[in-house]
Amino acid sequence: MAGRIPQSFIDELIARTDIVDVVGSRVQLKKAGREYKACCPFHGEKTPSFTVSPDKQFYHCFGCGAHGTALGFLMDHDRLGFVEAVEELAARASMEIPREAGQATGGPDRELYDLTAAVAQFYRDELQGDARAREYLQRRGLTGETCARFLIGYAPNSWNAVLRKFGTTAAGRERLHAVGLIIEREGPKRGDDNHYDRFRDRVMYPIRDARGRVIGFGGRVLDQGEPKYLNSPETPLFHKGRELYGFYEARQSRADLKRLLVVEGYMDTVRLHQAGITYAVATLGTATTQEHLTRLFRVGNEIVFSFDGDRAGRAAAWRALENALPQAKDGRQLRFLFLPEGHDPDSLVGQEGPEAFERRLADALPLSEYLVQHLESEVDLEHVDGRARLAELARPLIARVPAGVYRELLIDRLAQSVRMPGARLAALLKLDAAGDARDREPSEPSTVDSRMPGRIAVSPGRRNLVRQAVGLVLHHPHTAGTVSDPQALADVERPGIPLLIELLEVARAEPKITLAGLLEKWRDRPEGGHLAKLAVSELPELSGEQAAIELQQAVNKLLSEGSPARRRDALLAKAKGAGLTGEEKLELQRLLSPKAGPGGARPGS
Ligand code: CTP
Ligand code: MN
Repeated sequence: MAGRIPQSFIDELIARTDIVDVVGSRVQLKKAGREYKACCPFHGEKTPSFTVSPDKQFYHCFGCGAHGTALGFLMDHDRLGFVEAVEELAARASMEIPREAGQATGGPDRELYDLTAAVAQFYRDELQGDARAREYLQRRGLTGETCARFLIGYAPNSWNAVLRKFGTTAAGRERLHAVGLIIEREGPKRGDDNHYDRFRDRVMYPIRDARGRVIGFGGRVLDQGEPKYLNSPETPLFHKGRELYGFYEARQSRADLKRLLVVEGYMDTVRLHQAGITYAVATLGTATTQEHLTRLFRVGNEIVFSFDGDRAGRAAAWRALENALPQAKDGRQLRFLFLPEGHDPDSLVGQEGPEAFERRLADALPLSEYLVQHLESEVDLEHVDGRARLAELARPLIARVPAGVYRELLIDRLAQSVRMPGARLAALLKLDAAGDARDREPSEPSTVDSRMPGRIAVSPGRRNLVRQAVGLVLHHPHTAGTVSDPQALADVERPGIPLLIELLEVARAEPKITLAGLLEKWRDRPEGGHLAKLAVSELPELSGEQAAIELQQAVNKLLSEGSPARRRDALLAKAKGAGLTGEEKLELQRLLSPKAGPGGARPGS
């Protein structure tokens, strides 16, 4: 779609947003001292352990560990994507989103969304006036209520109904063309316009994005005719590989979306929703992409793919499996449902009802089982050769699964078929159970507090000086102003120093920035995860002044370690001027002792 959203806009947005409003409009908050408390919306609890800090613009649940900024809250709670969450906050703050790069900007896009919405309404109106189309939908078993919920309409049997109504100006025609509703005729121009309506005499299924905006259409012939379905082309609003039909409606249904069912068709989705299976979504005539899966797993941990039992269905299922492998992570479930030949979810739920259909779902094949069974069907398991071939076929597939419990279980399942102990098979496949090093977090010693699993205790010991300083700046960004020259830290050879310097400089440049503002700046960077962890780490409650003193001490210690000569001169100068504190005197003594100095032993680290 449009270009990147500039970071400066995100900064401004976070600065103008109050997390208390955002969370408070979705969760009942109660004031408790400087913070707000509530029962956590992310896990069931009776006593509130969910806190929102207006100072830090940050929320944190001490029960389940959920935490984040206002933006993160919208992503996790409303299950929005990043851009959607930004759009939501921008709308609240009445801010227009600027876009980097020359592509479409927020303004023209809005006109396109207005247009698709108006055309969807036009098709709705046309449906009211067309008995044949209404009869078709009745025959397919859809109620008026369902059609309204999905905005199902009818494109009249005309070459220019949409064109005449919405394309009266050149700009209007340009927009219709941009969203794929009209097509340009080839050959010489006839009259003053050479466009015609893409959708004619079809039942229209508007496709909505996660926020409910109409971004495209699928149109089905009423009787026989080719093609059976006609879809909007890729447009600035519509990307097949991203969107899922029914996703918005599924979220709107407010059902507890732990499970999502991915089907193939428009009618399947609509019929399932009507039958109460409101967690159904459809890919739009394409294979399930990584992007689809990422979106789905943001919402629930269990995805079931449903496929028709025919050849084409099986081929599509295997493609879905291949795409799903990188997403098979611990705590997630991926399963495959194969329907009896000749049926799709629509016909089946019509024939046997939603309970029976949900029983089928409960019995769907786990990914591991499907993978092994499918490969088994290609080899002869009775012979050693066949079993070796099975392992060989499985290897590249298993390699795509991230290291972890899921992968181990998959190897174990395969080992059963190959008749070999799991560990040996893993060794043979060179996919050792410990997994790839790159999947692990960069290792820096951290103490996990056993009373509060998931929280990192920040000890003030020497080892964690950088971490301590980073934590202090994060929680008390204004203290950065007391560090006169962050670049002086550049000589210190410790992991995390570049991050500390950058953090100090950002916080100095923007004195009003909050914890949330800092986290958002690092959202897409590798260090972002570290910062998020430190954001929920157990720091002692400090006043702003205490925090500033601790930060200075930590920075001073680091400086004396990095460039003792420079530090010594600075302390000598200070001794002559403002005078030294007790601690600084000791430090200077240490620096002046013959053991110290460049190349000398570093104390304690
Ligand atoms: N599809 C498509 N273009 C086609 C045929 C199919 O885009 N020419 C996509 C549509 O998303 C469709 C899905 O593939 O919903 C499944 O196609 P199919 O099984 O043929 O249709 P059904 O969904 O069963 O539609 P209906 O029940 O209305 O016949
Ligand atoms: Mn069908």
